[in-house]
Amino acid sequence: MDGVIVDTAKHHFLAWQRLAESLSITFTEHHNEQLKGVSRVDSLEKILQWGGLVLDNQRKHDLMELKNKWYLECITELTPKDMLPGVLSFFQELKGAGIAIGLGSSSKNANLVLSRLKIESFFDAVVDGNMIHMSKPHPEVFIRGAQLLQSAPANTIVFEDAQSGVEAALAGGFHAVGIGSPDVLGNAHVIWPSMEKASLSMLKESFGVEEITV
Ligand code: G6P
Repeated sequence: MDGVIVDTAKHHFLAWQRLAESLSITFTEHHNEQLKGVSRVDSLEKILQWGGLVLDNQRKHDLMELKNKWYLECITELTPKDMLPGVLSFFQELKGAGIAIGLGSSSKNANLVLSRLKIESFFDAVVDGNMIHMSKPHPEVFIRGAQLLQSAPANTIVFEDAQSGVEAALAGGFHAVGIGSPDVLGNAHVIWPSMEKASLSMLKESFGVEEITV
């Protein structure tokens, strides 16, 4: 979701950066790349590790609350117009072709974001950060999604902008389309620079197949 359907990845980045700076920890885009797709708690642990800080559980809890408060402030203004180019028409095409769509996100705010974008009705299954125990690169989020869709991983395509997400898709035996730069997503089966031209015909072309069906 974050970074594929909507550009909330930048809001996660800004909120984590603000938190890191409040702890005098340097936090750059390079650091942030390693947090994409990673759960809130695991992200905080990584940041503390980079800063060499050891904190008790209560303090960590408070910091996560603070980061989430700042993130929620950033997304209060989210509207359907914030969907990334190409996503809505792709969803419409997939629905028209009878192809099921699932959401696999590490975010505990996923349902809130989907409702702000008014796209909940496109999804046949939603698995978010409240439903999983293991964060990407573990494939749990996609495996649960595929189960809900009753689709075998080998018959399911994952779209991911995060390195951890591509790794999760591959570990679960899914096909993976990386959305973004080959520098980050090099292991994906196919890489698209963005969702802008996403379509069934582009998928067929990318995977070298005649047909993609339910
Ligand atoms: C997504 C984002 C991550 C974020 C994680 C948890 O996977 O890519 O940057 O940390 O969700 O989000 P949450 O909204 O639960 O804090």
